[in-house]
Amino acid sequence: MCGIVGYLGDKQAFDILIKGLHRLEYRGYDSAGVALVDSQGNLNVYKTKGKVSSLEDYCKDKDTTGTVGIAHTRWATHGEPNDKNAHPHYSQSKNLAIIHNGIIENYLSLKTFLQKEGYQFQSDTDTEVLVQLIDYIKTQHNLSLYDAVHQALSQVIGAYAIGVLEKNNPNVLVAARKSSPLIIGIGEGEYFLGSDASPIIEYTNKVVYINDEEVVKIERGANMEIRNLKNVVLQPKVHELSLNLDDIEKGGFEHFMLKEIFEQPKSLSLCMNGRLHRDLGEIRLSGILDYGDKFERASRIIITACGTSWHAGLIGKYLFETFCRIPVEVEVASEFRYRNPVIQRGDVLIAISQSGETADTLAAMELAKKQGAFVYGICNVVGSSVARLTDSGTYTHAGPEIGVASTKAFTTQVAVLTMTALALAKRMNKITDEDYKRIIDEFATIGDKIQTILNNRDYIKEISKIFTYAKNFIYLGRGFNYPVAMEGALKLKEISYIHAEGYPAAEMKHGPIALIDEEMPIVVVAPHYAMYSKILSNVQEVKARKGKVIAVVTEGDVDIKKLADYTIEVPQTEECLSPLLTVIPLQLLSYYIAVAKGRDVDQPRNLAKSVTVE
Ligand code: F6R
Repeated sequence: MCGIVGYLGDKQAFDILIKGLHRLEYRGYDSAGVALVDSQGNLNVYKTKGKVSSLEDYCKDKDTTGTVGIAHTRWATHGEPNDKNAHPHYSQSKNLAIIHNGIIENYLSLKTFLQKEGYQFQSDTDTEVLVQLIDYIKTQHNLSLYDAVHQALSQVIGAYAIGVLEKNNPNVLVAARKSSPLIIGIGEGEYFLGSDASPIIEYTNKVVYINDEEVVKIERGANMEIRNLKNVVLQPKVHELSLNLDDIEKGGFEHFMLKEIFEQPKSLSLCMNGRLHRDLGEIRLSGILDYGDKFERASRIIITACGTSWHAGLIGKYLFETFCRIPVEVEVASEFRYRNPVIQRGDVLIAISQSGETADTLAAMELAKKQGAFVYGICNVVGSSVARLTDSGTYTHAGPEIGVASTKAFTTQVAVLTMTALALAKRMNKITDEDYKRIIDEFATIGDKIQTILNNRDYIKEISKIFTYAKNFIYLGRGFNYPVAMEGALKLKEISYIHAEGYPAAEMKHGPIALIDEEMPIVVVAPHYAMYSKILSNVQEVKARKGKVIAVVTEGDVDIKKLADYTIEVPQTEECLSPLLTVIPLQLLSYYIAVAKGRDVDQPRNLAKSVTVE
């Protein structure tokens, strides 16, 4: 949801800002802009509808000099994506420029007030209201920018990560955060601002994570200052990033999504590293070692998340209930947070989030925490808001996921849930030693098995070309593979714009079967486990209505192969581990269909990677 970047130092800012915007483009890409103060003291704002590359074209004949600047790539909330609504926004006096990620909820009342004070507005955005408010407070009370931003934010309700630049003071940049991520990078005589570390990592690995309701002043030749909205002065805590540049580049792949699909053997190995000990036949997870009693005593586990992370949570339900015999409820965070859920002291809430910044997931966690639940996080981004809000948790260590469609984050989330459920079952004596050791042994081979599926990419690519005609898809699965069917459908719709629905296979008879005709592709996730004969019957029902079946089956399958139009094999594995394999062909299928349809795979329309607004 919008990417913000800033620079203050002795280098020319423009190229640094543009590079940073490209790295943050996954967060939103309907318009982009930059503001710079040049050496004559002009505050120049350039912005345009479209992607960062359009901004670069637009700026070709402009004066882009200046050693201080802010820049923004937008995912529209207030006002359609066009030139005038793009950020940065000037204040009326053109003395200030602002970039903003988030939503100012009380912008209408503030706008009415400012209009009465003679302010006129050029855009439909809430952001312009904020910069005018800062300008108003600054001039009325003759304050420094730092103080004016501080005062203005105490009148604001909503979410923000902002950067503010002042024409008459090019030595200072002011930034602030509430509920939207913000990081400051500290280099040699220079500072960087970013929504995440990706625009910063090339220049410095020293960063300060800004917390909610903190306002920051960075100044040429001075130490940064932080003050919270209660006026408490805070000491910046400097962290060292372990990210490296290769992690955030395409590495020869055509798209980030394909790179990330192919990275899964490696990301799973990083995720299991130091946790899954094949030699000892043991899983050691610090969360369960330190807080296992909380899980053991819980009368139920609640899992909450959004989108793909919610699908991982649905698999978590099968895992915890199968192995630990603890009842599990899984709910999308946006529903959970608003339905006044019954949460009891002692409940365990597991929140799952790749970005760690999803607004609804964070709100659900806060609610559960307030009501006495133990909050456990499964999260990819180190130092993110989810990571900081939890009582304990496990990082997935998938590495940066830049493609908007989530792939390696999903498999690592499922891997963490699997390790957690198995470690807990062992602690609770709910699993036999034999089963525990056998599954661990098998788990350790899962990366190699994924690699064999990836090696079959050309076949999946061929099948994909056949189905570009389709307007709808149905995905079916049962048990552990029902959430995989839902995830396959989500992947397809978000990057190819083909409508797709995932169903528990037996549910088909209760409605969706009416859709089946000779045009309709049905993807059936049908590996060979206890429910095989049932799903075989479901395939027969589809074929009887002339649907086109693409089946994901276990190597050596005979019966479904006879019926299906196309089959994609995955290696044999333990049933509880099968989602880690069956999801791979579905990721590739949706990727290749989207590519064949000429879609923008890494930046699909209307989407953004990190959903920091509700
Ligand atoms: C789909 C996708 C989204 C995210 C969802 C939650 O490919 O990426 O559905 O899974 O927005 O995001 P996180 O996991 O960052 O909380």
